[in-house]
Amino acid sequence: MSFLRDTYAENMQRDSTEAQRLDEQFHLLTENIGYLLHPSVRVKMHPQARVADIATGTAAFLRDLARNWPDAILHGYDISTALYPPSRILPGNVSLHILDARRDVPVSLWGQYDIVHVRLIAAGLAASEWGRTIRNLAKLLKPGGAMQWEECDFTNVRHLPGRPDSTTGAATTIGLMFLTAMRPRFEHGWNRLAAEMRNVGLVDVHTEAVSVDRVYDTRPRLTANGMRAMFSWARLHAARGSQGALTMRQIDDLERKAYADIQSGCYVTFDIHVAWGFRPE
Ligand SMILES: C[S@@+](CC[C@H](N)C(=O)[O-])C[C@H]1O[C@@H](n2cnc3c(N)ncnc32)[C@H](O)[C@@H]1O
Repeated sequence: MSFLRDTYAENMQRDSTEAQRLDEQFHLLTENIGYLLHPSVRVKMHPQARVADIATGTAAFLRDLARNWPDAILHGYDISTALYPPSRILPGNVSLHILDARRDVPVSLWGQYDIVHVRLIAAGLAASEWGRTIRNLAKLLKPGGAMQWEECDFTNVRHLPGRPDSTTGAATTIGLMFLTAMRPRFEHGWNRLAAEMRNVGLVDVHTEAVSVDRVYDTRPRLTANGMRAMFSWARLHAARGSQGALTMRQIDDLERKAYADIQSGCYVTFDIHVAWGFRPE
């Protein structure tokens, strides 16, 4: 069996600080999207529905869903268990497992789920892996089941002035450095979800985009949350001595200025793309 690298870990941390950041990011993105499940996907929920969340991270999606659906069967899957919360704090109907979405899913899971959900796996997938991954995950659906997937277009990240006297220079600099490094990952996925879903035979496929700054009150927290991800990435590469990495001192200085930018009203904008489709009955 060929070995597929955990490419996500090459750029992103997996520790308790990152788990807390991901939880906050999940809730802020959901607030801007306006729903956990699109209304046409939500109709597939029922008290004993079976739901799979792929690249579940901290299982934030399933923990949210469990609040309204205490008897649903909620399974989270990820390539790594490092971000999983301790099972004692998970709702009783949530269980977490290991699965590499790029590999063929076990036949025992075929046709098992009413809903398959994915959010933000892009940092872990190469351009060539999207088609295969979506084909794999569609196999999890029951006939009539729904797939819903959210990815962000980070290629269009901009740090904008929220006020006439806002500064944006340092926030823009770290944003461009991160984007330059991650572009091979971030160029794909968000723009291919609907076409790939149709390719694998899903029907009634729809997609919509919402701006991440849609809910005004979330802007400072979302901008600071993104900063934490980018400076954590910069420190990871500085510690590894990666080519072109900033020194720790340069990072500290840029970080101080970037947070001053946020204080001055600088905020981040990019689009969140949501796609959903259904396995034919
Ligand atoms: C940015 S986090 C998103 C977590 C969660 N979906 C959320 O929205 O908060 C990306 C997650 O994808 C997982 N991941 C990366 N590559 C994967 C793969 N090939 N199969 C399954 N999970 C993967 C990572 O381990 C990480 O937990």
